[in-house]
Amino acid sequence: MTASPRRGFTLFMTGLSGAGKSTLSERVAQVIKSDYQRPATILDGDIVREMLSSGLTFSRADRELNIRRIGYVAGEVTKHGGICICAAIAPFRTARSEVRARISQLGGFYEVYIATPLAVCESRDPKGLYKKARRGEIKGFTGIDDPFEIPEHAEISIDTSKIAIDDAVKKILALPERDGLL
Ligand code: ADX
Repeated sequence: MTASPRRGFTLFMTGLSGAGKSTLSERVAQVIKSDYQRPATILDGDIVREMLSSGLTFSRADRELNIRRIGYVAGEVTKHGGICICAAIAPFRTARSEVRARISQLGGFYEVYIATPLAVCESRDPKGLYKKARRGEIKGFTGIDDPFEIPEHAEISIDTSKIAIDDAVKKILALPERDGLL
């Protein structure tokens, strides 16, 4: 007799640049490994743009294509019982809901809105890009002169300027735990 296959899930972190998506994703993956002995695949916007989406711009169409690609890979991981953590700005509702619709059929899907305010992201400015955007050296920067459509159906919102990282991790992992996926 074979054991019933494990259901996978995706944590889809969306939010502004500098909101804390990558840091939180890394920490969530570490805890999943140490506390649940399961690996998690991270699809981080910066890395995806190098490895899967090089050549794409930050136009609306290219951002949507980037998110569709991330969603496709996350769906494959989820389908096979794995855990995928996506960490991209993903500023557009339509692209996010497309990804939700696809992955929900394959396993668990949790949209995690990293709701750190723009002012905080801008004060962190880890890559100096907000400064450049304010100076007009980068055009179409999310939050400055390009939109971020706030999620309306996120399973959870996390403001990393108000909550300690380990508390955020616990709150996030409570979702798949509740559903028996962890
Ligand atoms: S998304 O909009 O397509 O989801 P993604 O998460 O892959 O974006 O990449 C965002 C990263 O690209 C940012 O953290 C930042 O380092 C960099 N970047 C470069 N140009 C822009 C821009 N115009 N808007 C937002 N981020 C940009």
